[in-house]
Amino acid sequence: MKGHDHLANSPPEVGLRSIEDEHVRLVILLKDMRDMCGYYFESNHQCQDCNRERQASCQGLFPSYALDFLELVIEHFENEDALIDEIREIPEFELELKSHKKAHLQILRELEGLLQDMKTLNSQGQTVMALRVFHERADSLLNEHTQLFDAPLVRKLHEEHQRFDTPKGGSDA
Ligand SMILES: [Fe+2]
Ligand SMILES: [Fe+2]
Repeated sequence: MKGHDHLANSPPEVGLRSIEDEHVRLVILLKDMRDMCGYYFESNHQCQDCNRERQASCQGLFPSYALDFLELVIEHFENEDALIDEIREIPEFELELKSHKKAHLQILRELEGLLQDMKTLNSQGQTVMALRVFHERADSLLNEHTQLFDAPLVRKLHEEHQRFDTPKGGSDA
């Protein structure tokens, strides 16, 4: 039982649950952003095909969606990093946790750079193009990251919890 003392003081169960909630919120926010343009999947559609009013409205919406998304990504990575710091003591997992935090930083840097470029495109009246490029990249970065890092982390934490919560035999406290 000794190996799990770090879980005894601050069980990351609550943290784990909110991390999983944030994953769901990120997916929803990305989908909402995509759905702001009803012609997203019509690759021939350009903003100039819509009336000026609609164009102006989309031009305002895109950066606002993208910024909300980026803010949630930042908040989520901070929370996940904090959770990772809490469980650092699981030795066989340490290297993976280090690369996990590094991956967060890389994603954030790429998304911030991409958003700057897409804001420029948006201000040139190419909102749907900016939306497609940003959405596609953000979606694939997050999916890749989830499969590679988050899913194993979540699985591991659930396992650790189960082991901690269901002591076999008598108490060893
Ligand atoms: Fe992560
Ligand atoms: Fe995550």
